[in-house]
Formats: sequence, C-alpha cells, structure tokens
Amino acid sequence: MGRPALPDACEAVLFDAPTIAARVAELGREIVTDHAGEQLRLVTVLRGGLFFLVDLARAIDAPLTIDFMAVSPYTPGRGGVVRVTKDLDDDIEGASVLLVEDVVDTGLTVNYVLSLLRARSPRRLEVCALLDKSARRIAQVPITYRGFRAPDRFLVGYGLDLAGRYRNLPCIATLSEDAAVLQ
Ligand code: PRP
Repeated sequence: MGRPALPDACEAVLFDAPTIAARVAELGREIVTDHAGEQLRLVTVLRGGLFFLVDLARAIDAPLTIDFMAVSPYTPGRGGVVRVTKDLDDDIEGASVLLVEDVVDTGLTVNYVLSLLRARSPRRLEVCALLDKSARRIAQVPITYRGFRAPDRFLVGYGLDLAGRYRNLPCIATLSEDAAVLQ
C-alpha cells in the first residue's frame, strides 16, 4: 500500500505517521518512568494540541486525567499578549501537570500558560512538545519532553493547520511556498 497523497498545498512529508507514532510511544514510556506513582494531569491548549494529547495519553500506561485550555491573542499583531478563552475545568493545586503542545514556536503561548498554571501551585509542572521550532523562539521555555526538532517552515498536519485546514492529516508536512505566501 503506497503513501496517501498529500494535498496540493503541501510540499513534502516531514514526519510520517509511523515515525510520529513511534516517537509518541517513546515519549509515553519516558513519562511513565519519570512519573511513577503520580496522578498525572495532561493539559493541552486547544486546538492544535488535541491530536498529540489523545495519542500521547494512550501511550502512557499509568493513571491520568486530561483537561483543556484555549487562549487567543487580545489583538492580532500584539505578540505575547494573550487571554484565556476557556480555562481548565479541574483544580491543579498539588497536582503533577504536563502541558502538552503540538508545537513551541515563539514560545509566547507556552510561556503565558506556564505562568498562569504556576500561580495555581501544582506540585510539578512540565512541558511536552511534539515539535520544537527553536529558530523562532522569543520567550525561552523549558521543554522536558520533545518529540522532534522542527525546521523554520510552515507545517501542517497532526493538529497543525492552515486557516483551520489540514489538522487531520496523519503526517506532518511542509506547506508549499505558494500556499504559505497565500495564507
Ligand atoms: C499553535 C500551537 C501553540 C502555539 C505555539 O497554536 O498549538 O499553542 O501556536 O506558538 P508560539 O510558540 O509562537 O506561541 P495556534 O495559535 O496556531 O492555535 P491552534 O492550536 O488553534 O492551531
């Protein structure tokens, strides 16, 4: 069976589905080892992190709960200023919280969310990011669990979108230059 066709807007597959699945399984095992005996809370920021969260949760063979936040910029173009549009449902005081992100780019989102969560006194607070685009970093953020280092390219698939599309691609692909310019 051949590789499924990519949408025209995509240039090439960067990480295919088996490669992602293998890395997610490794991360899951690492997290289980590091958090033995703890009640883990996986928290993600909607919407992109959802796909990674679901697969990672199933790769963690230990008790855990999941919870979601959503944030949005106050005003487009005002980098770093974000507001919460959906807060967590559960209290995290004294909990072991793992913030699960599809991608850390500038780091502004994670930096903001971490400061918000830290103020609620979790016992442990760490970041698990599938992709680390470190070339674009503005705010330095600690990434305890990293799936892959990613190039400074517009990426889609496995939660990553172009104007809301392509999140459901099973792989992570680079966007063609034409599509990237048009977006
Ligand atoms: C993406 C991603 C992170 C954020 C990372 O979300 O899911 O939350 O960008 O970027 P940063 O490091 O530059 O802050 P996005 O704002 O695209 O929303 P989405 O999750 O709904 O796609």
